[in-house]
Amino acid sequence: MKGRSLLRGLARYVAPARTSAPRARQSAPFIPFAPPPNVWVSLAPFRAVKSNGYINPTILTRKFSSTAVAGVPLAAVKEAVPLVVAGDAAQKKVARWLFGCSGWVFSMVVLGGVTRLTRSGLSMTDWKFAGGLPPLNAEEWKAEFAKYQNSPEYRRINNGMGLEDFKFIYWMEYAHRMWGRGLGLVFAGPFAYYVAKGYITRPLGLRLSALMAMGAGQGLVGWWMVKSGLEEPKTEYAQPRVSPYRLAAHLTSAFVIYSGLFWTALSVAMPEPPSAANQLMLDASRRIRKLALPVAGLVGLTAISGAFVAGNDAGHAYNTFPKMGDTWIPEGLLEMKPVIRNFFENTATVQMDHRILAITTLSSVGGLWLAARRLPLNPAVKTLLDATLGMAALQVTLGISTLLMYVPVSLGSAHQAGALTLFTVVLALLHTLRRPSPASLRALNSSFTMGSKQVL
Ligand code: HEM
Repeated sequence: MKGRSLLRGLARYVAPARTSAPRARQSAPFIPFAPPPNVWVSLAPFRAVKSNGYINPTILTRKFSSTAVAGVPLAAVKEAVPLVVAGDAAQKKVARWLFGCSGWVFSMVVLGGVTRLTRSGLSMTDWKFAGGLPPLNAEEWKAEFAKYQNSPEYRRINNGMGLEDFKFIYWMEYAHRMWGRGLGLVFAGPFAYYVAKGYITRPLGLRLSALMAMGAGQGLVGWWMVKSGLEEPKTEYAQPRVSPYRLAAHLTSAFVIYSGLFWTALSVAMPEPPSAANQLMLDASRRIRKLALPVAGLVGLTAISGAFVAGNDAGHAYNTFPKMGDTWIPEGLLEMKPVIRNFFENTATVQMDHRILAITTLSSVGGLWLAARRLPLNPAVKTLLDATLGMAALQVTLGISTLLMYVPVSLGSAHQAGALTLFTVVLALLHTLRRPSPASLRALNSSFTMGSKQVL
């Protein structure tokens, strides 16, 4: 029952905002918005925004009292420019597209994890920006296999592997790369279309262009990572594997792109945070926001430390919990010089580090939940706080299970997906806790004042 209401609460939150006014406000007029030329755009495609730039004041006052609707001055409306113009339908379309792209990035991260866990990532020994066709006949497969047979991974780990097994790891890596290129198309096509239609404002246009550039860069970072695994290891007995630093860079950059897209999608769907009913609620949100920010940082840091566990294959050592082997503090914890190297390259240190960060994250999320328990917060915030606590507990359980079971593909990928899910819930929480824009704060203040006058 509780689970169902939690899901319903979340769905209500992430669904694009209903910017059409409820009955009483249906007749609220659209205010013609003529922005000053220096705010709007010199780029030709965006001019359409200026020419048909109308914004609906109810966007600002969604869920606020009707006094606030009447009370929003034009100057205040100008301050809180939404990211999408041209009406409700345009806003919904853009929001759905951006949520879809975020989902695509999510699936990319999971597919990347499965590729790594099935040890398929080094099967393709070259890279072209636009990609290419896979081998199409026996001859081409033979040639591709021959290139792989020259790689250190084949010679040191997969020596004797047959063509059929090679085809499996090749298809995994090929699918990961093509899925990324598919995202490029699904992103760039509608982006150009919505710009041409005049839906996209300049700030949104710039933000999405930056995300697109980062997406293209992510392909390059991926290849830079793979290249490190194709190099001959320094010592005779070392196993070839990608540099943990590059793996962490690839994963971190995926998290950053995902966060940017998801945050933007939320901002399009929900230009203003859910309203505060009174000053107490506003103050409570401010307090929780201050606590939630470092918690979000901790989740991010734990995820990055996880990338170093994965990059060093540290999940295949110390497969016990809570002790590491027979001891609490493993031998050789800080044996590398300089000491800082241990946190990125020493199996014992990276694993212990990840455990400590994970437990600290769970405790902080618990602390945040307790701190918020008695505060008069918006129900959407409460729902997201419950979801954060539940997801953090699940993620720690998944992490421990992954370790105890020697990192099977299923649990390893579930643990990776869990990290991104936890991050998603925390982003949604922070987004819900955002400070309302000055315009809506003023509208709120005036509605509070008018409300209290009426009471008097
Ligand atoms: C808030 C809690 C946690 C978060 C956010 C988190 C996040 C992550 C991330 C992002 C990875 C990298 C996955 C990849 O690149 O494939 C990872 C790997 C890993 N984590 Fe965690 N983790 C958490 C808790 C734990 C706990 C409590 C343990 C066990 C004690 C654990 C054990 C592992 C192991 C063994 C790996 C390596 C798996 C592999 O080789 O694929 N994690 N974690």
